[in-house]
Amino acid sequence: MTNPGRLIILGAGGHAKVVAELRAIGWHITGFLAPADERGEENLGAPILGDGVDLSADSSWLELNDLFPAIGKGDIRWREFIRLAAAGARVPSLIHPAAIVSPSAQIDAGAVIMAGAILQADCVIGSAAIINTGAQVDHDCRVGAGAMIAPGAVLCGNVHVGDHAFIGAGAVIVPDIRVGRSAFVGAGTVVATHLPDSSYLKATRRTSQFPVME
Ligand SMILES: CC(C)(COP(=O)(O)OP(=O)(O)OC[C@H]1O[C@@H](n2cnc3c(N)ncnc32)[C@H](O)[C@@H]1OP(=O)(O)O)[C@@H](O)C(=O)NCCC(=O)NCCS
Repeated sequence: MTNPGRLIILGAGGHAKVVAELRAIGWHITGFLAPADERGEENLGAPILGDGVDLSADSSWLELNDLFPAIGKGDIRWREFIRLAAAGARVPSLIHPAAIVSPSAQIDAGAVIMAGAILQADCVIGSAAIINTGAQVDHDCRVGAGAMIAPGAVLCGNVHVGDHAFIGAGAVIVPDIRVGRSAFVGAGTVVATHLPDSSYLKATRRTSQFPVME
C-alpha cells in the first residue's frame, strides 16, 4: 500500500464518500472530480474541483496528488481507472484501517478494501476492484480487475471471480468455484456451481415467501 499523501477522488457519490473516510489513516483529501450529473447530495467534507473531463486542466492535480477511481458502477469505475493510467496518474490501493488483511494478500492499484473486510492468505485483488464493507475473501481467492464484492459477501477458499464480475451483498460462494468474467450474482445468493462469463444468477428465496407476522 502507498504511504498516505494527498488524494483526489474521482466520483462524488456514496462510494466516494466512504473512500474519503480514508483520511482517517492520514490521506489528505484534496477534493473530488465528478460531472455535475453524477454528483450526489452528500456532504463530502472536501471541495468539488471540477468535472474531471480534462485531467490536465490543473497541473497540480497529477503532480501533487494520487488519484483514485471511487465510483460504485463497475463500468464507469473501470473507464476512469483506465483514463487515470493513460494520464500517468499515481493510483494507489486503499485499505481501511479496520480491515484485516493477510500480509501475503496482493492488492493491485485502484482497489479498495473497506472497513470490516477480511482478506486471507495468498488472495489476489485485481485493479480497481472493490472489497466492500464486511466482505470476506478467504485463502487463495482471486478477485478480477474491476470486480465488486458487495457488503457482507463471502468468498470461501480458492474462489476465482472474473474481471468485472459483481457479487451481491451477503452472497456466499462455496470453495473452489469459478465465477466468470462480467458475471452477476444477486444479493443473498449461494453459488455452488461454476458460473460462465456474463451469466446472471439471483437467489430464488424472497422475503415475501416467509409468513408475515401481524
Ligand atoms: C437481483 C437484483 C438485481 C434484482 O433483480 P430483479 O430481477 O430486477 O428484481 P426486481 O427488483 O425486479 O424484483 C423481482 C422479484 O425478485 C425479488 N428479488 C429481488 N432481488 C432479489 C434477490 N437478491 N434475491 C432474491 N429475490 C430477489 C423481489 O423481491 C421481487 O419479488 P416479487 O416478484 O415477489 O415482488 C437485485 O435485487 C440485487 O440482488 N442486486 C444486488 C444488490 C447489491 O448487492 N448491491 C450492493 C451494492 S454495494
